[in-house]
Amino acid sequence: PRILVLNGPNLNLLGTREPEIYGHETLNDVEELCRAAAGTAGYEVEFLQSNHEGVLIDAIHAARGAVAGIVFNPGAFTHTSVALADAISGVQLPVIEVHISNVHRREAFRHHSYISPVAASIIVGAGVNGYVLGVQQLIHLAGK
Ligand code: DQA
Repeated sequence: PRILVLNGPNLNLLGTREPEIYGHETLNDVEELCRAAAGTAGYEVEFLQSNHEGVLIDAIHAARGAVAGIVFNPGAFTHTSVALADAISGVQLPVIEVHISNVHRREAFRHHSYISPVAASIIVGAGVNGYVLGVQQLIHLAGK
């Protein structure tokens, strides 16, 4: 079985982008952590990052029937994108929403998420370990 780990805009800069907020690990480090966490449960990981909303929507559509669910950090699109929320509703796959930082401790515009109402679970403020927790939670849900 497979899961999709999907990252939105600016997460390609992880490691060099505001490290006091997002830490020093890179997106490659995140990918390795996810593959290791999934591998212990016998799952494979499809890993994708895009800065483009439409590419993320296409990836969610393509995930239908191909993966057990999605671990998704939508980046700033979290706070703006009805289209991503609709895509998730449309494919009926479990989505674990992950934010590296504790968005609730930050600016007010980061407190609202269009994704949370369509997410199965939400992990915030756990740093990049949130992806590991997300993978574990998704596999937990998939096994039910
Ligand atoms: C983020 C939080 C968002 O508010 C921000 O726009 C990001 C990263 C996080 O992982 O903490 O790009 O999703």
